[in-house]
Amino acid sequence: MDSSRPSWTSRYSFILASIGSAVGLGNIWRFPYIMGKYGGAVFLIVYLFLILTICFIPLLAELATGKILKKECIGAYESVNPKFKPLGFLNPLTGVLISSFYFVVGGWIINYIYISFVSYKTSDFSGYFSSFIQGSTLPVIFTLLFLFMCMFFISRGIKKGIEFANNVLMPLFAVLLIGLIIFSLNLPNANLGIEYMFKPDFSKVSAEMFLAALGQALFTLSIGMGALLTYGSYIKEDKSIVKSTYTIIFSDTMFALMAGVMIFPAIFSFGLEPNSGAGLVFVTLPNIFAKIPFGNVVSAAFFILLFCAALTSGISILEVAIASFTERMKISRIKASVILFIIISAIAIPASLSFGKLYGVTLFGKTIFDFLDFTTSSILMPLNTLFLCIIAGWFLKIKGSQFISNKFFAVLFDIGLKFIIPTVLIGVLWAGLK
Ligand code: TRP
Repeated sequence: MDSSRPSWTSRYSFILASIGSAVGLGNIWRFPYIMGKYGGAVFLIVYLFLILTICFIPLLAELATGKILKKECIGAYESVNPKFKPLGFLNPLTGVLISSFYFVVGGWIINYIYISFVSYKTSDFSGYFSSFIQGSTLPVIFTLLFLFMCMFFISRGIKKGIEFANNVLMPLFAVLLIGLIIFSLNLPNANLGIEYMFKPDFSKVSAEMFLAALGQALFTLSIGMGALLTYGSYIKEDKSIVKSTYTIIFSDTMFALMAGVMIFPAIFSFGLEPNSGAGLVFVTLPNIFAKIPFGNVVSAAFFILLFCAALTSGISILEVAIASFTERMKISRIKASVILFIIISAIAIPASLSFGKLYGVTLFGKTIFDFLDFTTSSILMPLNTLFLCIIAGWFLKIKGSQFISNKFFAVLFDIGLKFIIPTVLIGVLWAGLK
């Protein structure tokens, strides 16, 4: 085994970094708007069910594969069978593609932090947001700035970079979140937002909602891109990873729910609609901030919170490719970061411009941004998860009994990993491609 491989300082730092990876734009930006789109509480019920049953298995399997093989994705798959090398390669590739649009949104967040401090004059954020993202200069500069910040931490290594970022940003994130929840719950009619989240309307159940809930669950837990495999490969102590898996799932779900409790009461309190899609946090919320006293302070707090969440997730997305670069090409982390910065910029800049100048450039009928979002969340992530389950279950022969003491659950894990999850994922892929 390679003794020069980095490892986590402690189990705590591993769990914190994995929670940092899980909790991101997926929880605060995507979860509330997808929940708003699919009718509130019913979506939540389906989502919670999927998180606790279907998602537990690939999450544990991905961590376990990393922990057992102690290699970056490509080498890990190759060591199971040299034929699997190309499948391993899909993981860093997916990471590069995800980051190219994730970081565009990261750039928008930086802009909103900036305007919270310097000018908060507009009261029509709908017009502001669309004209901002159509621009060619600021959105691109901020996207690259966000990428640069992630790269800065990444290039400093596991302990000084990744652990440090999570140790600072995650507590800051939690404090800001709690503060904003208290603020939101004290607004008039806040209870309407809570009712919307927790009182189900079963007429809204649909097959499409199931797919959306599963896609959201995989994305928010960072499954299917090798991030957990890579983080798992840095675990050195021989402790069970089942508890870590629960902790990651529980924390991620709590943070998503807390994001809802922060956002929906404010929206209902101002008589606005919860189903405004991707603009929910960039249009609906700023419209509220513009109306309240000290709104720019609240706005700064909110977007700094979003920034912390996005940065710690961005780091985990990049680490997959960085680990592959450094271990396979034997280059330093700094060199690997520079190369990756160039590659990702080359995709992220067109993705950012696809709202404006490059709007007319389409791939399979989608703008560059939408194409990247669609290919990663609807195709590559389920596909990578499918390959992971098959390789872990059938070839590496991971068994539930290695980690889970309860016999019944251990067997359930085996059946899930080898049969149920692959079947569900094939269904998801088929539905996504239809
Ligand atoms: N889970 C993160 C979020 O909710 C996004 C993310 C980080 C991710 N790492 C990932 C998604 C790996 C898929 C794969 O925002």
